[in-house]
Amino acid sequence: MLIRKPSDIRSSEITSESNYVNRRTFMRGAGAIAGATLAPGTFAATVPVEHGATVPDVRKSELSTDETPNSWEDITTYNNYYEFGTGKSDPVRNAQDFEPRPWTITVDGEAEITGTFDFDDFIKPFDAEERIYRMRCVEAWSMVIPWVGISLADVVKRFKPTSKAKYVAFETLEDRKRMPGQRFRSLDWPYREGLTIAEATHPLSILAIGLYGKVLPNQNGAPLRLVVPWKYGFKGIKGIVRMRFTESMPATSWNMAAPHEYGFYANVNPAVDHPRWSQARERRIGAGLFAQKIPTLPFNGYGDQVAALYAGLDLRKNY
Ligand code: MTE
Repeated sequence: MLIRKPSDIRSSEITSESNYVNRRTFMRGAGAIAGATLAPGTFAATVPVEHGATVPDVRKSELSTDETPNSWEDITTYNNYYEFGTGKSDPVRNAQDFEPRPWTITVDGEAEITGTFDFDDFIKPFDAEERIYRMRCVEAWSMVIPWVGISLADVVKRFKPTSKAKYVAFETLEDRKRMPGQRFRSLDWPYREGLTIAEATHPLSILAIGLYGKVLPNQNGAPLRLVVPWKYGFKGIKGIVRMRFTESMPATSWNMAAPHEYGFYANVNPAVDHPRWSQARERRIGAGLFAQKIPTLPFNGYGDQVAALYAGLDLRKNY
């Protein structure tokens, strides 16, 4: 997807230990201003922070595919996360020291309940489910990923959007110290994404907090990222710090970077080619060097469940 190639991030630019300690002290102070609270919820314990820790109380979901998931290795070493570099193996290398706590999420705009919430308070009211979903990147590769997530519909409803709210906009943390890729203008920071309220309240949409039953690795978007399985992967914004309910369609990062190539909707559509490549087929990561590409399905195979959201909309124009 690269548009302007920034120079590689040198290891000297990755945070030193002393910076990291100072930052933690600062952030502990900043966390205290997050005063708003939500009613207690169903999580028995808070979600652990430690790398590789298990998320408690995860239940299975009928919405999961029975396709075989990609390996942990595939899912955590082949990533797109420009805040940590533009190469596929940059995020796993450059995000290791990233601290996903303390973490706050600000909810604002057209909603009755707004405020800044500590991550644990934000997710506490919701049940964690395993959702095994196909993911199709706009670059024509795909994976099957066993996410752990909470229902975005439940989250949206809890904040009581007003009748004016037509969209939900999301933003990633903007912090060039913690996210060294933001020192380069590979995108206009912070990373931004958005959904219509109907999309956000569809049962398939989740906010992921883990994968393979473990807490979300940094390179996959810790502590909180969006997963919308019928859309191209770039809609799945990582490292979310803000959710804003809006009346008008929000600006989104890839659309801002290349409007003729990436639209707001970004529904997986094998019939609409990317201007620079075909979207008809996809390469399943991990299938082996000589594996045939597989056909891409409309809405990434979730058409039965989501096509009705777009009744009457010209999906060639609204790509
Ligand atoms: N979110 C942020 N904040 N920054 C990014 O660069 N890349 C997107 C999306 N979310 C990206 C992001 C793209 S292009 C894809 S394909 C998916 O994350 C990749 O998710 P994965 O690395 O967990 O497979």
